This record gives sequence, structure tokens and C-alpha cells, in this order.
Amino acid sequence: MCGIVGYIGSKQAFPILISGLKRLEYRGYDSAGIALQQSNGITTYKKQGKVSDLELFINKREVSGNIGIGHTRWATHGEPNDVNAHPHTSMNGKITVIHNGIIENYSRLQKKLVDRGYTFTSETDTEVLANLIEYIYIKGNISAELSVRLALTKVIGAYGLVIMCSDEPNKLIAARNGSPLVIGVGTNEYFIASDATPIVEHTNRIIYLNDKEVAVISPEELTLKTILNDSLTPIIQELNLDIEEIEKGGFDHFMLKEIYEQPKSITDTFRGRASQNPPEIYLGGLYNVFDKLDAAQRILIVACGTSWHAGLVGEYLIEEFSRIPVEVEYASEFRYRNPIIYNTDIVIAISQSGETADTLAAVRLAKEAGATVLGICNVVGSSITRETDAGVYTHAGPEIGVASTKAFTAQVTVLTMIALLLGKRRNTICEKEYKEIIAELYTIPKKIEEILTYSEDYKAVAELYKNAANFIYLGRGCLFPVALEGALKLKEISYIHAEGYPAAEMKHGPIALIDENMPVVIIATKDKSYEKVVSNIQEVRARKGIVIAIVSKGDKTIAGLANHVLEVPETHMQLAPLTTVIPLQLLSYYIAVMRGCDVDQPRNLAKSVTVE
Ligand code: G6P
Repeated sequence: MCGIVGYIGSKQAFPILISGLKRLEYRGYDSAGIALQQSNGITTYKKQGKVSDLELFINKREVSGNIGIGHTRWATHGEPNDVNAHPHTSMNGKITVIHNGIIENYSRLQKKLVDRGYTFTSETDTEVLANLIEYIYIKGNISAELSVRLALTKVIGAYGLVIMCSDEPNKLIAARNGSPLVIGVGTNEYFIASDATPIVEHTNRIIYLNDKEVAVISPEELTLKTILNDSLTPIIQELNLDIEEIEKGGFDHFMLKEIYEQPKSITDTFRGRASQNPPEIYLGGLYNVFDKLDAAQRILIVACGTSWHAGLVGEYLIEEFSRIPVEVEYASEFRYRNPIIYNTDIVIAISQSGETADTLAAVRLAKEAGATVLGICNVVGSSITRETDAGVYTHAGPEIGVASTKAFTAQVTVLTMIALLLGKRRNTICEKEYKEIIAELYTIPKKIEEILTYSEDYKAVAELYKNAANFIYLGRGCLFPVALEGALKLKEISYIHAEGYPAAEMKHGPIALIDENMPVVIIATKDKSYEKVVSNIQEVRARKGIVIAIVSKGDKTIAGLANHVLEVPETHMQLAPLTTVIPLQLLSYYIAVMRGCDVDQPRNLAKSVTVE
């Protein structure tokens, strides 16, 4: 959360920074700001609201300069307003900072600075950092770089930082601990950003900063060091990302585009990994841990948000096919509750961004305990992918909409393949079923294409219930996590309260909420619990609840019971999460649009949660 950008070179920095901030806005959109090195010193512009508000505000003025930094904020300390917006400048104007992360010991540092005469204008932890660097810089009469490194030895917390010093105008200093930072290498120019999306249009040569590293950058050169002054050789990697992938491509919203991309993103995720002839799963990223997978007595899955829901689907699939016990935990709970981790455990961290702070911390904890740690991530080169022992990328392509859609189905696709692979290696899945599921996986993209053609049906249901105050979502077995995901999608983007429940659990509480105003979305495709779900539908109808059922194509029984049916083509029971989630995504999308909500940037949320 919070997006940061920087530019140093011979071009005008302002347009580069603004378009970079727009690409990073999914990381936070409470306020935005830019600081530029101009002929008369550093000038800072900042504004509450979105990057477009900042742009409007600046456009009225003359701006020029070849060096600058920019920030789009997801507020942690201090409300979103102009004053708390980044960049922050130190009391004597020497140091200007943008920051993504949290300085945990900021109040203790602030108190020391106040004792030494410093005053503060904002409520942010970042201003404390700016003043701390300046204090060391003036007191020690030392370089900006050394001041930054010394200040960072005093800081506890997470940061991605870019710093400008007014006395050293031809330089940017970037540092990272816990929050991502990427540097694009051009010809006599460098681009800095929280991820590669603002950089791809300028260069495909990338340096990923690691924790506790500091880069000192001038237009001509970049030097890389640890905070403790050990020299490092920057490793330049080639970035494989198309500009079209991060644009809306004619869709009204990124979320809609990403929903419609799912036939492709699922295909990209299993392509080359699931073979029909011979029936086989090849997950090259796991080859070096096959011995550990074969010996494992247990799998722990850690994740947050939608990725946690994918993990729950994974639990059903892995236990079903490979008979290995699986536990799924919120990474934030796992990391703080002194969990029991055996060195024979396999820990799977699932994260679209690969940067979620709690998931990354859970990875570190599991590694310390000696477990084998795998990652299922979407963003290539992200922190989790670099810290895990092995892993499988989802090939969903960049996901920009804050509400996760195609990342979920890509994660479930990977988990399906892992479950099949483990089942095959352990001889717990019969050859026939193994073959059938792989063949069925190949049909999923076509089935999703069909589901996507029913958008008028979703719009019609959305129109009827867009003003409901609450929704309940029900599902059983591996469709229970899909119910959770459907409820999460609705609340995130439309701000309607929604709860997901295992269908049979409804009787233990939620049934008390059901009346003629309560829409109940029930996933009721044909599987072994079908009859039971039909009973659940009758229980809702008996209390006058409104039933919106997701059913297998052609289902007449439920069509006669439910108020609305949304059809999906039939598939293998364990693959139904991939199809049934699509109507739920679209229903949420259309409801949110009809309510006038900002679908891609819902209030208070951010896509990449790099703070605890
Ligand atoms: C945020 C996003 C969610 C996402 C979650 C976990 O809350 O808004 O869409 O599921 O973080 O993110 P990750 O990148 O770890 O999957």
C-alpha cells in the first residue's frame, strides 16, 4: 500500500511521475504528491484525493525539472489530507522523503527529535524519518547517503523510500526494508517504483532492491550498498511485461477486463504444466522439493484475503486427491500465535502480489522453523517468490483492479495441479480420475467463456437487488470458500454487508436474518451434496428469503424453487470453484457499478497490503 515513483535523467520528470503514479494508484488513493528538483530548489505539490486531483492542481502551474519523486497514499498514520500527503520535507528543508510502509518506533524517535528542537507539521511517521535524517545530516556534517544509512539503523519497521537532499541536487537515494522497490535502468536515466508497472513503458531492465539495501542514484550511475555500507553488485534482470497487459483495453474498469480475461489467464496458468497425453502434471518449480513433498505429513497454507479463500479451496482438493492433512490459516494469525511447525511440514504461501506483509512474515517464520516453504504468487520477482524454497507462479498477468478476480481462479488452478501431482505421487488418486480431471481442466476456459456471455442475466439480478442492505452467500464443500469469496467481492466493491456461510451452517444462526428482504445467493451445482443444498434452498424459501441460485445448466428442480437461477455449464465437482465464482464476480461488479461505486479503487482498500 502506497505507491512510490522516482525519476532521474534528462527528461521532464513531471509527466513520467504522474503517469507512474496512475499505474500505482491501486496501491492507495487517499492523497498524492510530487516533489521536483527545480532550478530554485525542491518544490513539493501535494493534494488529498486521487492522482487526477493532484494533476489538476499542478497543471495550473509551471513545472519543470529532470529529477523528482511521487507518492500515492494509503493512509496509516494520520487522516488523508493535504498535510499528511507525501512527500514530507524535514524542518529545515534539507530532506524530502516518500515512504511506503510503517515506522514502528516513530513516536520514540519523534520524542527525541522534539527534545532537540524539532517541530512537526503532519501526523505521519514519515515526517519523523525526514527529520531524523536531517538531524543526523546537519549534526554530523556528513553526506546525505551516510545520514540516510545511519538513520535507517535507528528505524524499526517497514519501508520503501526515495529521498532527495536539497544540498545534493543531482541524486536520489532509495532504500528498502519490507516494502517493495524496483529500479528501471535506462540510458543515463533511472526509474524507481513500488512495482514494475510504471517502468515497463520506459525500459525492461530492472533491479529488484532487497531488504536493507540502499541505492544511490545519479543520472550516470547507480551504486548499491547495504545499510551497513557493504558494497553490492546490482543485478539487472530482464522484465517480461507488455504495456497492453496493464491498460484497460476498452473495458470500463480493470475489474471487468480481468474477469473477462479468465479463460486466458487460466489457460496460461495450466499451459505446459497439465498434459493430457500422456496425462501428467509438470510443475517445474517444485522439482527440487519433490523429496520433501513425498515425505510431508502435513501441509499448512498461509494467505490473506482472496488468496486465503483460494487456500481453502486448495485444502479440499489436496485432502481429497492426496490424503495429506491440510490446515489453512490467515497469515496474520499464524505469525503471531506461536504456531506448531514441524520441519517435515510443507508451508504454502499464496499471494497475488507476493508482497503482503503478513504473508511474507509467515513465510519467514516457517523458514526459521525449518519447514519447506513454497510460494504461489502472481508477481514475478516479488518478495515472497524470492524468499521461498520453491513455488509455482500463477500466470494471470498483472491484476490492477483492487478486488481480486483472475488471481483467484489462477491460484485455484495451481492448487488443483498441486493436488493432482501429490495424489499421483502418493498413489491416492486413481489413474482414471486423474486423467478425467486433467481433461476437464482443459474444458474450463470454454465453459467460462460461455458464462461470460450471460452478462444480461447478472445485470438483471443486480438491478433488482442493488439496494439490498445485506446478502448471504451459501455453498458446501469446496464451494463454501467460493461463497466466502462471493460475499467478499460484494462487500469490497459495493459496500453492501455480505456474509458467506457453509450452507448447512445457516441453521445455526444466519437463518434468523432471513426475511423477504434478504437475498441469499446459493451455489447449488450438481454434486454429491446437491440434494442437501436443495433442502437449504427450501429452508430459505420457507422464510420468504430471496434465493439467487447458481445452478448447473438445465437444472429444472432448482429453477422451480429459486427466485432466480444463474446457470453454469456442468463440470467435475472439484473444478466447480473455477466456474461458479464467475457469476458471483459479475453480480458484485454490476451491483457496484449501479450503485455508482468506484469499482477499481474501492474506499479504504488497497491492493497490495505491505503493512501489518
Ligand atoms: C488485499 C487485496 C485483496 C487480496 C489481499 C491479499 O486485501 O485487496 O484483493 O486478496 O490483499 O493480497 P495478496 O497479494 O497477498 O494475494
